[in-house]
Amino acid sequence: MIEILDVCKTYGTGNRALRNINITIQDGEFVFIMGRSGSGKSTLLRLLIKEEEPTSGEIIVNDTELQDMRRRHIPRYRRRLGMVFQDFRLLKDRNVFENVAFAQRVVGTPQKTIRESVPEMLKLVGLSAKYKSLPQHLSGGEQQRVAIARALINRPEVLLADEPTGNLDHQNAAEIMNLLWDINQRGTTVIVVTHSQEIVEQMGGRVVTLERGQIICDEIKDGQSHED
Ligand SMILES: Nc1ncnc2c1ncn2[C@@H]1O[C@H](COP(=O)(O)OP(=O)(O)O)[C@@H](O)[C@H]1O
Ligand SMILES: [Mg+2]
Repeated sequence: MIEILDVCKTYGTGNRALRNINITIQDGEFVFIMGRSGSGKSTLLRLLIKEEEPTSGEIIVNDTELQDMRRRHIPRYRRRLGMVFQDFRLLKDRNVFENVAFAQRVVGTPQKTIRESVPEMLKLVGLSAKYKSLPQHLSGGEQQRVAIARALINRPEVLLADEPTGNLDHQNAAEIMNLLWDINQRGTTVIVVTHSQEIVEQMGGRVVTLERGQIICDEIKDGQSHED
């Protein structure tokens, strides 16, 4: 469970990015965070990965109080989360396999395990045939699939995605969202920042809307798909 309790964030510049935010997210939920540019969405994710500290309030992620965490424990904590960004952030000079494998190499996963788990993950995201390709030879949608595979390879408890479809056309965006949905169905908590009203209306589910750093709406919306 993720608990965000009365969290405020004011940047050093005086920007009040978040004001009195309260959100509880249960294990296995799929949550959209919506709101215009500048409403505080990315700041909220940055607080969750402990890239920024709240000015006040408390954040608890699966019984870990982020405030009390020692600095040296932050890398280990971050590995419990998967992150996906709008701009993919892949290693340009490594192929698809190596981009995903890298996330396991840095945590000392044995080579034998990597050889099994990476193809399995690439299959899950639908990229088995492209394992030798360099990112520059992939479409945007494919690059984002690699990023998702990399984010999932260490089996995170939560997947955080900051506008993962922001650089994709409609078709690819829909496919990436369906993939995130599948991942959620397999048990991972998924939090997706988007400003695509269209995607949210189609998928439905829990939608938290921010405006100028405040939650103006937190509700379950009916979608047009996934009624199964
Ligand atoms: N590192 C920063 N330093 C100062 N102000 C920032 C910083 N990052 C974001 N902000 C400000 O905080 C507000 C929320 O930004 P952000 O969380 O990036 O919003 P969103 O992701 O919804 O576009 C904006 O006013 C933005 O200019
Ligand atoms: Mg943002």
